[in-house]
Amino acid sequence: MRVVVTGGAGFIGSNFVRGRLAGSADEIVVLDKLTYAGRLENLRDVAADPRFRFVQGAIEDPDAVAGALEGVDAIVNFAAETHVDRSISEPDAFVRTHALGTFVLLEAARAHALRYLQVSTDEVYGSIEEGSFTESSPLEPSSPYSATKAGADLLVASYQRTFGLHTLICRGSNNYGPYQYPEKLIPLMVLNALAGDRLPVYGDGRNVRNWLFVEDFAAAIGFVLDHGRPGETYNVGGPDECENLAVVRRILELCGRDDSLIEYVTDRPGHDRRYSLASEKVRALGWSASMRFEAGLERTVTWYRENEWWWQPIRSGAYRDYYLRQYGFTLGP
Ligand SMILES: NC(=O)c1ccc[n+]([C@@H]2O[C@H](COP(=O)([O-])OP(=O)(O)OC[C@H]3O[C@@H](n4cnc5c(N)ncnc54)[C@H](O)[C@@H]3O)[C@@H](O)[C@H]2O)c1
Repeated sequence: MRVVVTGGAGFIGSNFVRGRLAGSADEIVVLDKLTYAGRLENLRDVAADPRFRFVQGAIEDPDAVAGALEGVDAIVNFAAETHVDRSISEPDAFVRTHALGTFVLLEAARAHALRYLQVSTDEVYGSIEEGSFTESSPLEPSSPYSATKAGADLLVASYQRTFGLHTLICRGSNNYGPYQYPEKLIPLMVLNALAGDRLPVYGDGRNVRNWLFVEDFAAAIGFVLDHGRPGETYNVGGPDECENLAVVRRILELCGRDDSLIEYVTDRPGHDRRYSLASEKVRALGWSASMRFEAGLERTVTWYRENEWWWQPIRSGAYRDYYLRQYGFTLGP
C-alpha cells in the first residue's frame, strides 16, 4: 500500500513511519508543514529508504495535498497542533489545521476514493472521575485543542455517512517515548531533571493520565488501518494510569535527583482531572499494548540521556522563550 502520512515529522507520526517501513511493504509519503514540533531529525534514520519520500506542505493547502497524493491508497492524518497550553494562548492555528486541514484532506480522499484514517485523542471525551470512556461516550472537550480535534472527528464521521468514504478514527491516550517535543510532560521533566533544572508541576499534580508507549499507539494505528471496519472509531488506551506527581517523582529517581527540584506552578485553566479509555474494540482486532509504563518510562529516560544531538538544539533555541512565558522562570538551576 502507498500511504500519505500527514504530520509524519512529528512525535507519533515519525514513530509510525519508522514502524511501518520496518514491518510492512508500504511506501510512505510524509506531508508535513514543519512547524516548531515537526523536525526532519525525527526521520533521520529513514530518510535514505527508497520506499520513503518527504514533501513539505500544509494540509490546509489543496495544492500541497494534491502534490503528495499521486498514486496513493490511503491517508493517515497525524498533522495537528498538539499542545493544550498553546491552544489556550494562541488558538488560531488549531482551528486552521484541525478544521480546515481535515476538510481539505477529506475532500482529496473523496476525490480519489482513498482510505482515510484520522488520528485523534482521548481528550475529545473530556474528563472522567471514575470508569472509562467507550467509543460511544459523548464528546465533551475542555480546551480549544480538544474541541477542534472533536470537530475534526465529527467532520470525518460525516464524510463516511454522507459520501460513503472509507474512514477510520483512532483515539489514543497520553503517548510518551522517543522523539517527543519537550513541551510535553514526560520529556519536559526528563530533560529538566537531567540538567538539574526546576520541574514545573501544575496545580497539586494529582491529575491522572493513562500512559501509552508511542510504539504501541503506532502499531494500533497500523492495525486499524489494515483491519478496521470502515466508519468505525477505535479507542486506544495504555495499560497503566498514573498521577502526574508520581510520574515526576519516578523521573527524578531515574535521573538520580530528589524532590527538591519540584516547583508547583499555577494550574492550567480547564485542566482535565482524569482521562480513561476502554479499548476492548481495538483489542478485538488483535492489538494489545506491549509496554508497561514502568519499563517504557525507563526506556524513555535512557533514550533522552543518549540522544542529546536530538534535544540540545531545541533546548537552546526559541523553546527557551516559550518556556519563560509559560512558567514564569527560565531554564537553569
Ligand atoms: N501526543 C499525544 O499524547 C497524543 C495522544 C493521542 C493523540 N494524539 C494525536 O496524534 C497526532 C500526532 O500528535 P504528536 O504528539 O505526534 O504531535 P506533534 O506536535 O509532535 O507533531 C505534529 C506534526 O504535525 C505537523 N503539522 C502541524 N500542523 C500542520 C499542518 N497544518 N499541515 C501539515 N503538517 C502540520 C507538525 O509539523 C508536526 O510534524 C495529533 O493528531 C494528536 O492530536 C497525540
